[in-house]
Amino acid sequence: MQATITVLGGDGIGPEVTAIAVSLLKEVAALGGHAFTFQEALFGGCAIDAAGDPFPPETRSLCENSHAVLLGAVGGPQWSDPSAAVRPEQGLLRLRQHFGLFANLRPVRAYPMLARHAPLRAELLEGVDMLFVRELTGGAYFGARQEQGEGDSAYDTILYTVAEVERVARLAFRAAQSRRKHLTSVDKANVLASSRLWQRTVKQVAAEFPDVRLDHALVDSFAMQLIRTPARFDVIVTENMFGDILTDEAAVLAGSLGMLPSASLGEGTFGVYEPIHGSAPDIAGKGIANPIGTILSAAMLLRHSLNLEAEAAALEAAVLSALESGARTSDIAEPNAPALSSAEFGERVRAALRKAG
Ligand code: IPM
Ligand code: MN
Repeated sequence: MQATITVLGGDGIGPEVTAIAVSLLKEVAALGGHAFTFQEALFGGCAIDAAGDPFPPETRSLCENSHAVLLGAVGGPQWSDPSAAVRPEQGLLRLRQHFGLFANLRPVRAYPMLARHAPLRAELLEGVDMLFVRELTGGAYFGARQEQGEGDSAYDTILYTVAEVERVARLAFRAAQSRRKHLTSVDKANVLASSRLWQRTVKQVAAEFPDVRLDHALVDSFAMQLIRTPARFDVIVTENMFGDILTDEAAVLAGSLGMLPSASLGEGTFGVYEPIHGSAPDIAGKGIANPIGTILSAAMLLRHSLNLEAEAAALEAAVLSALESGARTSDIAEPNAPALSSAEFGERVRAALRKAG
């Protein structure tokens, strides 16, 4: 098949990890006889420096003319002055909003060979394999707000409509149907009105999916259960900010924040794919970042935007086989064992891909 993929490397380690993932997507294309065209564009802090805008119009139109976007990370200390008028993160929020990417899929699994890197006992990690569906275009991130410079008050608003909850709930129920048929909806319905609407709506949508077992959890208690009994969960659906917080927490189960991919999806097949980690300015330019989250994001791109399930599964299997063969970047290295650079790790994945395909 033919596909155009826009690559937004962004800031910090972003361009380093997307470069590895792009080289593996090229390998996938060569092995499968596909024609992928890659186009790069400025996004985030580097776009503020070059164009005064974290999501410039040229970047937007390249994204509009592509099947999918592969994104690295945005942000860095040089753009994080709280009084700055433009911030890299605004580019990310505008990108999500512009394309109506209301659902953010964040799969989390524990890797047995990395169990020593997780702060939990290995037996708690057995069978951990869950999928977070985070609502991405509503809630406090996009609600009415007031900021008064140095004033003595400020507010943000959490607003959800029934339609917004329905669409993300349906997507989560469908994901649960293709997995272990268990959905946990996380809210704060004992305090927040928006959470009561969330819970009521999810219950109504549940009638369309009688084969899925639904439970509701309050976000504070869920945050505890996620660490105490993580293997209990299958698909989790929650509002934007709760999902942001809980998925960073869940990342410790995988052994490193560098392991986690994500897909941001809307109504069609277009999607934005990015690792959940940030731009890691402390290690940027060193070529040592863990590229797994981005490689697995590229696999999600193959699956969700290009409908190439076999290729997606092959790329995921190649990552696993590189890990099984002992390939490790420094964040997941064994004590006294040499760590690979990002590029060397990528080559190990490439070798596994070739061997399998
Ligand atoms: C994420 C990030 C973003 C978010 C920031 C960078 C705006 O933390 O994708 O999880 O809060 O959504
Ligand atoms: Mn986050």
